[in-house]
Amino acid sequence: MKISESISKLKASATLAVSARAMELKALGRDIISLSVGEPDFPTPEYICRAAKEAIDAGFTRYTPAQGMPETRAAAAAYFNHFYDAQATEENIIINNGGKHSIYNIFMCLLNPGDQAIIPAPYWVSYPPMVELTGAKAVIVQTAPEKDFKVTPAMLDQCLTPKSRLLILNSPSNPTGVCYGEDEMNALAQWAVDKNIIVLSDEIYDRLVFGEAKTVSLCSWWKKHPENFVIVNGVSKTFAMTGWRLGYTLAEPGLIKAMTRLQGQCTSNVSSISQKAAIAALSGDFSEVEKMRTAFERRRDLAMQIISSWPNVVCPKPQGAFYCFIDLHRHYGRRFADSTALCNVLLEEAGIAAVPGIAFGDDRCIRISYAVSDEVLKEGLKRISGVLLNGGQQ
Ligand SMILES: Cc1ncc(COP(=O)(O)O)c(C=O)c1O
Repeated sequence: MKISESISKLKASATLAVSARAMELKALGRDIISLSVGEPDFPTPEYICRAAKEAIDAGFTRYTPAQGMPETRAAAAAYFNHFYDAQATEENIIINNGGKHSIYNIFMCLLNPGDQAIIPAPYWVSYPPMVELTGAKAVIVQTAPEKDFKVTPAMLDQCLTPKSRLLILNSPSNPTGVCYGEDEMNALAQWAVDKNIIVLSDEIYDRLVFGEAKTVSLCSWWKKHPENFVIVNGVSKTFAMTGWRLGYTLAEPGLIKAMTRLQGQCTSNVSSISQKAAIAALSGDFSEVEKMRTAFERRRDLAMQIISSWPNVVCPKPQGAFYCFIDLHRHYGRRFADSTALCNVLLEEAGIAAVPGIAFGDDRCIRISYAVSDEVLKEGLKRISGVLLNGGQQ
């Protein structure tokens, strides 16, 4: 069959492709360690599963409003109000099929063909393809590992054009784990307000922040400038609920209504059962989340202790999420000349699944996830260092 032009141009998700190849090799009996996963390795907490089971037993299995049930929206608004004093109401919330779906629907509702969306690199793999599906252009701003992969207003000025419409920020970041400080975030938000650019703030890792860092949400800016800010969050990463598919968007009512119209024609409501589970999650006491966060922080420390002993490597210390984005380009040589070739060698020869940095817009790096047990993490990093020592340079 002849596939449409826009979908023919659409690349497959690189992270999903690496996981699929790793699973193929595992099925063939190979000893594979996957450091490519983008999801917590913990089970969904019991009290959340219980709410879902109760929903099924009560026959709560029918359509709900496309925008999401009022109670789910109230729980999401309460989350933003509790943590960030957003002063949001149900009117400001739509429930989507995962944060990925929230972001796609926002692009669909805000971008016209020819518009430009500014995306700092390294970026989450799905931003550019999703922008391009709308007919808009993804304008990439490259940041440097030596500068903690952070973008500044001066860098944004360089790519500003009359067609710039949207800026995408993601802190804590996938793939780098970098968190912007309050002053840095305020400077970017002020830049957006001054230039009348809309900021999509992807805050999906906001509860997974470590030690000295703290989450700087753009909710406070949204409160003052609702036309300039849209906030995305979801239950996947915070509550180990990746398979439940539930994300949510905080925005001014006009955008929420547009997204509801789109959702009403495309997907209707998010699973009624997942919504009940999300209410339990968002209204719970967050003690289970704290346990997972503590485990991620310990593994971050373990990973950094090992990686920082490798020669010729730059890896800013992640302050959130569960990834390290490691600049290994000084090891590139005849055997592997770029991040894709390196990840192929890692997978085929050392049985390590890691994601090439090129998928995130930076070919110098690879991404590993530390959402695995300490033993798996240690063995995985040992194998990577073995490949590096045995020579990219030959
Ligand atoms: C930065 C970022 N945003 C959004 C998402 C979407 O997550 P989900 O669709 O599971 O809510 C992910 C998932 O990997 C992510 O890493």
